[in-house]
Amino acid sequence: MSSMINSNAPVSVQPLPGALGAEIRGVDFSQPLTASVRKQVEEAWTKHVVLRFRGMPTLSADDLIAFSKNFGNLDARPIGSSEKNPYFEVDKPEITIISNVVVAGKPIGGLGAYEAVWHSDMTYVDLPPKASCLYAIEIPPSGGNTYFVNMYEAYDTLSAGLKQRIASLSCVHDASRNSAGELRRGFAEINDPTKTVGAVHPLVRVHPTSKKRCLFLGRRRGAYVSGLSLADSEALLDELWAHATEPRFMWSQEWQLGDLVMWDNRCAMHRREAFDPSTRRLMLRTQISGEAV
Ligand code: SIN
Repeated sequence: MSSMINSNAPVSVQPLPGALGAEIRGVDFSQPLTASVRKQVEEAWTKHVVLRFRGMPTLSADDLIAFSKNFGNLDARPIGSSEKNPYFEVDKPEITIISNVVVAGKPIGGLGAYEAVWHSDMTYVDLPPKASCLYAIEIPPSGGNTYFVNMYEAYDTLSAGLKQRIASLSCVHDASRNSAGELRRGFAEINDPTKTVGAVHPLVRVHPTSKKRCLFLGRRRGAYVSGLSLADSEALLDELWAHATEPRFMWSQEWQLGDLVMWDNRCAMHRREAFDPSTRRLMLRTQISGEAV
């Protein structure tokens, strides 16, 4: 695929303009990563939270799986997404297809062309993934960009009083709907957040590698801060969400074909803007297993 070789040579880390994100160059995805290259990528990832690898239009699903496995075990895709998908000849449980493409009347992937609201992936389970890798195979002529926020900075800039107030609070993360608002199979509609079904996680987590504190919000819909009245929970979450999604904590990924973006799901949230449903967008995603929050 290229003349690069994954030796011990330094990879290039170019910070991107925003509150997080760096572009990595000098990694050859057609070769196994050396320990040195893997370590450099991990260090850049810890520092910049989101990494972009640009200009790799020929990666296969197996290449994406092999790359992702450098950083941990892979989770199976979320329930209700891409099962028995006609797109791949071989069913690969580690691959989630994110797409609006329809084949033989059946969507080949999840999230359609809708906006995917701010969220971290799968925080409604007890052990949410630590990372996601998203690879662009087809992109629309406009729209469909992905925005990220830096949850370390969101936490650091809270008032001392608010930090103290949330220090020992936990939140229920709604499992019933995906980030495009679709009800997951097997879940009932819940309109009272005090009855939300999903994992319970602290509002503030300590990142196991950086040892820094970050806000951990998951997704807004259906969230409920355990032990508070519904009104107090709603007011607190509204305040935290308004703060965490301020533009000063953001960076936006404008996709090009062959981009691979890897984000830290523990200390970043993301949202995907809507795009014209008559155009095509096709991405492959892997998720790297996480640890208890
Ligand atoms: C996701 O929310 O994981 C998908 C993001 C995207 O489609 O850009």
